[in-house]
Amino acid sequence: MHTLEPAQTLPSTRLVPESAARPGDDPIFALNAEAKRRAATGESILNSTLGALMTDEGPLAVMPSVFEAYSRVSPERAAAYAPISGDRVFLDAVVDDLFGKGGLAAHAVAAATPGGTGACHHAIVNFLEPGQKLLTASYYWGPYGILADHTRRGIDTFRMFADDGAFDSAALEEAVDRQIEEQGRVLLFLNTPCHNPTGYSLHDDDWERIVPTLARAGERAPVALLLDLAYAKFADPGSARWPHHVEQLLGKVTLLFAWTASKAFAQYGARVGALVAVEPDADERERIKNAIGYSCRGTWSNCNHLGMLAVTELLTDPELRARCDSERAELRHLLDQRVRAFNELAPKAGLSYPRYEGGFFVAVFTPDPAKTCEAMRERGVFVVPLPGAVRVAVCSTRVDQMPRMIEALEAGVRAAGG
Ligand SMILES: Cc1ncc(COP(=O)(O)O)c(C=O)c1O
Repeated sequence: MHTLEPAQTLPSTRLVPESAARPGDDPIFALNAEAKRRAATGESILNSTLGALMTDEGPLAVMPSVFEAYSRVSPERAAAYAPISGDRVFLDAVVDDLFGKGGLAAHAVAAATPGGTGACHHAIVNFLEPGQKLLTASYYWGPYGILADHTRRGIDTFRMFADDGAFDSAALEEAVDRQIEEQGRVLLFLNTPCHNPTGYSLHDDDWERIVPTLARAGERAPVALLLDLAYAKFADPGSARWPHHVEQLLGKVTLLFAWTASKAFAQYGARVGALVAVEPDADERERIKNAIGYSCRGTWSNCNHLGMLAVTELLTDPELRARCDSERAELRHLLDQRVRAFNELAPKAGLSYPRYEGGFFVAVFTPDPAKTCEAMRERGVFVVPLPGAVRVAVCSTRVDQMPRMIEALEAGVRAAGG
């Protein structure tokens, strides 16, 4: 038994050491708070930090059909526990939403998760051993790193863009090989279409290089590919052919999909999502299903039942689904106008950024992101610093604000020596 000697003093915290120095507020939320504070004093502020689609009038964009779906769920069903891995009809509806009648659906198993975040969590704890690292692009959604760290795994990256601005599939191949050497397995996270934070979407030519790399890797080691589809419903048609490409990896690597209602149904707070795994071997598929169900029990037990039932209704009732699709099309139109405005003005201002065809965010490269952000904040414009770039939340920047945004970006990059 551990007891302290009388002369020993108690530590200054009762937290275990690894928890004692955690950072406080998420940096994006801290920036958002400063923007709101300054706006409250009457200053004209352009806040492009948070990743939610805002209407031109200001508030969060919502979809009325979603609230009708909520109202259709009986209190008794909503109040009851959901099954640990989620309702069967919900999971089937998600698989259908992802693959339709395509070949992948026949080999899919799934578990409900609180948003795409929960899906990422379950992929990490089931496809990496403690101490191993997930692989993703050098620009990545920060919580990947937190999820990995919190589950005692780590993160490893490959250079996302080559010097000519193209997706660096050679760097990906090198990193996959290195990981096989170093840890004997690979869990690769690719967030496409509409990558957060860069806006980049993989096209056919990118996939045509990625697929053979992963197929070869799958012959040498256990490889799992997680496609993070958080923004998939906002994709340009040119990047919507991912099912055709990943299908070629069936049975060669484990195919995982992080599905979420957060952006697709403008239900960020509902925490409705799923991890879908596609595996042709029936025994392995059963093992995966059991493993991810066990992870549900071992973390959040089960998910928000009201949200899950409402989303099921939205996905399965043809009339409601049609209405929901047309409401989403309006939101897409709103976003696409902003994307177009950005693409029209940014090149004229000499800004350097990846191919951007749709989605909530775009990253603008700068030699000193902190200096760029500071110069922009002086102009009342808030964006998020990343290593080597700043992230602009186009989803919360109106078309008529775009000239101010571009002007501030230009001044910010110039202030950083770019
Ligand atoms: C890249 C990416 N993946 C996953 C998510 C997951 O979000 P949620 O857990 O709300 O579904 C987000 C949300 O911002 C995201 O940007």
